[in-house]
Amino acid sequence: MTVTDSPFLRACRREPVPHTPVWFMRQAGRSLPEYRKAREGIAMLDSCMRPELVTEITLQPVRRHQVDAAVLFSDIVIPLRAIGVDLDIRPGVGPVVARPFRSRADLERLRPLEPDDVKYVSEAVRMLTGELGDTPLIGFAGAPFTLASYLVEGGPSRHHEHTKALMYGDPALWAELLDRLAGITSAFLDVQIEAGASAVQLFDSWVGALSPADYRRAVLPASARVLGAVADRGVPRIHFGVGTGELLGLLAEAGADVVGVDWRVPLDEAARRVGLGRALQGNLDPAVLFAPREAVEAEADRVLKAAAGLPGHVFNLGHGVLPDTDPDALTRLVAYVHERTAR
Ligand code: CP3
Repeated sequence: MTVTDSPFLRACRREPVPHTPVWFMRQAGRSLPEYRKAREGIAMLDSCMRPELVTEITLQPVRRHQVDAAVLFSDIVIPLRAIGVDLDIRPGVGPVVARPFRSRADLERLRPLEPDDVKYVSEAVRMLTGELGDTPLIGFAGAPFTLASYLVEGGPSRHHEHTKALMYGDPALWAELLDRLAGITSAFLDVQIEAGASAVQLFDSWVGALSPADYRRAVLPASARVLGAVADRGVPRIHFGVGTGELLGLLAEAGADVVGVDWRVPLDEAARRVGLGRALQGNLDPAVLFAPREAVEAEADRVLKAAAGLPGHVFNLGHGVLPDTDPDALTRLVAYVHERTAR
């Protein structure tokens, strides 16, 4: 087998697979004791800038769970920090921006990202592709809307009120902000592909806060620019958000090869909304992993049944692994999906 023939990449291309491939968003992270040990005394963002540590943390879930793909250990705010935005990731909180983006003058703080700004990322990707053998490495970036939400709110937000105030109140500035972020995001994905990433995922985690009409008008053009910029690189593009039931068709339209689905829409229905020509990724509720083994297996069966008629399915959770998840439950789930779908 080669990376190109791996079940994960075959499923992304909607080709027949020996078993349904599995990986988990946030598979590297706090659910693993070996991760907590490796990170001891090192701040989150600092750890993302150390290629050897990034390599070790990225490999941990691959060794432990036998997942079909690795996902680079990094964060969606890394490219912003790399161009000099003063931000930090607070444990248990998330990204916090010292001076939120609120006016035209703030555009000046968002210069384009140069590959040299994130040398530690290309180095980590190169080290990883060497270590991973036939296992594909997924690179990723935050989509313009989700990045804008952190920049404008100054941190995690439930209602995105400042972000929406800017979007509705100053559409021209909003469009410029998203356009700059699209440039930064495209450059960040490009660095990872150039260094050897086999696929990329665009995380628009919080875009489910928008109506379809607002998404189409105010966000889709920027996300489409990002996905278009990497369309000809020969790597599948996964487009994911949470609470996107009403947006699935538009996420596909923005230019994805694979659409990531959260747990709220069954995959057969998601396939109807997404339309022909795309694979789907998802969509077990991450909270299900706290239930007894039999319940996890029953819910996994439900996901597999809904996906049974689809030409391409990558098994994943509907959002990231929750920090208190029992790692053994994840290992068992991978084995279960492999076993149930072996052909
Ligand atoms: O294993 C992987 O999936 C790769 C690593 C990864 C991280 N962040 C590491 C991380 C990925 C793909 C991300 C993406 C990311 N970061 C997203 C999109 C994915 C999603 O969950 O929707 C978002 C919205 C962020 C922003 C962010 N960074 C949040 C909300 C948090 C969690 C805050 C908390 O402590 O609860 C972070 C921090 C972060 N990023 C951690 C990890 C492993 C936790 C750091 C720690 O160990 O304290």
